[in-house]
Amino acid sequence: MNNNLEKYDILVNKTNKLSFSYKPNDLIKICEKYSKCEQYLRKKAKESFEKMAHDIEANNMKIIAVSTYRSYTYQDKLFKKYVQEKGFKYARLCSAKAGCSEHQTGLAVDIANNNLDYDNFDKTKEFLWVKENCWKYGFIMRYPKGKTDITGYKYEPWHYRYVGNIAKKIYDNNLTLEEYKIN
Ligand code: DAL
Ligand code: ZN
Repeated sequence: MNNNLEKYDILVNKTNKLSFSYKPNDLIKICEKYSKCEQYLRKKAKESFEKMAHDIEANNMKIIAVSTYRSYTYQDKLFKKYVQEKGFKYARLCSAKAGCSEHQTGLAVDIANNNLDYDNFDKTKEFLWVKENCWKYGFIMRYPKGKTDITGYKYEPWHYRYVGNIAKKIYDNNLTLEEYKIN
């Protein structure tokens, strides 16, 4: 069981799990301008995401949060739906089992631009900006290309994780959170 629950560098993955009952106590709703439906992140992550979303507008681009905090129960439903639709083996590469998703930390955000679904995010100019600039706001791309053996998941160009000021080191050294935590 993970024990640094409140720290922004918390590692949640297939082997570092959260309990059924864990829910962050500082979840705040993201401004509607920058989200689809009601989306919640932990306070610092919310403020940083909104700042990033605001700054990208100055470059005539737009990003929105399409999935953020998810409860254990909701993640359980999502994972089971994936298994039904795609089979267990493929589901394991795309979706976390309940307790293993960092969406439950309230520090992860799936990003889309305003026009395309999130899974087409890497076809947008917004993606190029977010990829290069997200570390300035304390975010990292959590599941990069070519790192599946380490993260356990396929490339997810839409999934960003708030880690705070360690984001620069992770970005500069092309690391995953797993690699950062080991070193
Ligand atoms: N898609 C990521 C791995 C999750 O389900 O948390
Ligand atoms: Zn995600």
